[in-house]
Amino acid sequence: MKIMITGASGQLGKCLQDALANTEHEWLAVGRSDLDITRASDVDQVVARAKPDVIINAAAYTAVDKAEAEPDHAFNANSHAVANLVEAADTVGALLIHVSTDYVFDGRSKRPYLETDTVNPMGVYGKSKLAGEREAQRAQRHIIVRTAWVFSEYGSNFLKTMVRLGRERDSLSVVNDQIGTPTYAGDLAAALTNLALRQPENGIYHYCGGEPCSWYDFAQAIFNTCNELSADFSPPTITPISSAEFPTPAKRPAFSVLDGSKLKRATGVEVGDWVGALRNVCSKA
Ligand SMILES: NC(=O)c1ccc[n+]([C@@H]2O[C@H](COP(=O)([O-])OP(=O)(O)OC[C@H]3O[C@@H](n4cnc5c(N)ncnc54)[C@H](OP(=O)(O)O)[C@@H]3O)[C@@H](O)[C@H]2O)c1
Repeated sequence: MKIMITGASGQLGKCLQDALANTEHEWLAVGRSDLDITRASDVDQVVARAKPDVIINAAAYTAVDKAEAEPDHAFNANSHAVANLVEAADTVGALLIHVSTDYVFDGRSKRPYLETDTVNPMGVYGKSKLAGEREAQRAQRHIIVRTAWVFSEYGSNFLKTMVRLGRERDSLSVVNDQIGTPTYAGDLAAALTNLALRQPENGIYHYCGGEPCSWYDFAQAIFNTCNELSADFSPPTITPISSAEFPTPAKRPAFSVLDGSKLKRATGVEVGDWVGALRNVCSKA
């Protein structure tokens, strides 16, 4: 089994490499400097040379707010480039595992989202990722994994921002009316590796980190963990605020909890455990 990872320099790309380093599988990981997935002929060449059995696409335009001002960039990386991967994967007979987002939903659901629920993205990023899902579905062999609120010891993410602000400030305000499921990229990487091996039927699957919470709850858990790890870290005072009090260019769903039971039925993979991952990640952040 040979697995190729795109977007290798991102937080998920790095966690995928960590996960595969502990296996006996053959794999190669290409970052944007090795392979820009928006370049169709480069994608064809690299995939034809590597002949992977599975391509895991961890490359994406992930700047949710910036996407509102640069939709072309977002659609190029998140949708048009996926078409390049589909064509290359089909040519060599590879399974394409494509990663998508909870932001394809509008957040009006009262229960965790199922794969079959109606999509209605609220911003450019979500729309571009939904367009990418539709491209990925054209591949002869495809698995689309929607995930949410990804954090890790790598790159930029909410946890790392909170740890930095916690060191710099005595107080801060965090949004308390958006509910989601933080997902450790290391857990997601393990789930994707498992999918690469088990290869369930084509389709969309949800994977997230377990216990739902608000960004405010997540920040509190991060600060408590940092404080447990180091007595030198004195947690700042956090004030819960509404999304209306923290306006952003892109609207975000108020509720984007994903139901992971389809993936469990298909592969036995349980949802992740973001609370359990915090100690490890905070110690490295
Ligand atoms: N982060 C989240 O909270 C979150 C939530 C839900 C779903 N997701 C999805 O999870 C996946 C992984 O996200 P992540 O958190 O690991 O994002 P990330 O840390 O931003 O990594 C994305 C990587 O893709 C690369 N990339 C962008 N455009 C590219 C191109 N044209 N060709 C090749 N590489 C390109 C980026 O390179 P540069 O650094 O050079 O731009 C970056 O290394 C994405 O599909 C994302 O949509 C993420």
